[in-house]
Amino acid sequence: MNDLINEILKLKKEKNAVILAHNYQIAEIQDIADFVGDSLGLSQQAAKTNADIIVFCGVHFMAETASIISPHKKVLIPDLNAGCSLASTVNAQELKKWKEEHPDYIVVSYVNTTAEVKAESDYCVTSSNAVKVINSIPVNKKILFLPDKFLGMYVSTVTGREMEIWNGACHVHEKIGDINFDNAKKSHPEAEFLIHPECGCSSSCMVKSQLYFDCKNIHIFSTEGMINFVRNSNAKEFVIATEVGILHRLKKVKPEANFYPLSENAICEYMKMITLEKLYNTLLYEQYEVKVPEEIAVKARLPIERMLSIA
Ligand code: 13P
Ligand code: SF4
Repeated sequence: MNDLINEILKLKKEKNAVILAHNYQIAEIQDIADFVGDSLGLSQQAAKTNADIIVFCGVHFMAETASIISPHKKVLIPDLNAGCSLASTVNAQELKKWKEEHPDYIVVSYVNTTAEVKAESDYCVTSSNAVKVINSIPVNKKILFLPDKFLGMYVSTVTGREMEIWNGACHVHEKIGDINFDNAKKSHPEAEFLIHPECGCSSSCMVKSQLYFDCKNIHIFSTEGMINFVRNSNAKEFVIATEVGILHRLKKVKPEANFYPLSENAICEYMKMITLEKLYNTLLYEQYEVKVPEEIAVKARLPIERMLSIA
């Protein structure tokens, strides 16, 4: 394994490549990456890197976003099958039809969408800046929000904005529901609960945290928001409601604390497709390139740049 790691580092240097990894990647990939973060942090890194090659250890829509923002860089993904069930819940044709049915609406798309869907959108958001972006849209504008219904309900509650929300969900987060939540509250009464807004339980948690004073230790965050919260918290126990890959990074940030996944089965098989062997082949053969055609990229760049200028 050490030989493989050394070969990857050597190739990375020779080719002036940067390795970006999402918080859900396996531990070995996180440890070798130049930057580990959430969707927003990864897009920001892709926008500012001086590297010639961006190796994206994440899922396809993330590599597409990097290609849209940095069209002159070579963007590579170690496995082209690393998709996203949430991004697959809406395509450009379906969005065009939805827009026709709602002609005066502003379209706000979660970053977990294809480049073609972004090209039909006015604003892009990630889970860490969705509230800020929605708050920047004039209150007289009506909003179509897609594709995640749980994130949509969360953002609508926090901002007080009524929105039409697409009926999409992530197969991993949707299953993190109420049952796990209530059991975990009983087992870890002192813990801080950190919940990703894509979770099926996020809506009821919002209601609970507003209704019961003993639910004040519930916080809804993007993956990087969770990391920052833990870094600045004095708590010793945390229950984490998102994909379990993030536990590796959380333990590095606060080794003395205990972290409990709300669901041990919350595993994104797409994120886990990226391995050290595939990363090595990616650098060696410069495969697999993710290149968004310029006619799509030019339209998709606008909502992403709007988002990056707001947050
Ligand atoms: P974050 O932007 O919070 O990392 O979320 C990305 C994602 O795909 C969550 O499932
Ligand atoms: Fe997509 Fe869900 Fe995997 Fe995130 S966890 S990349 S939303 S399938």
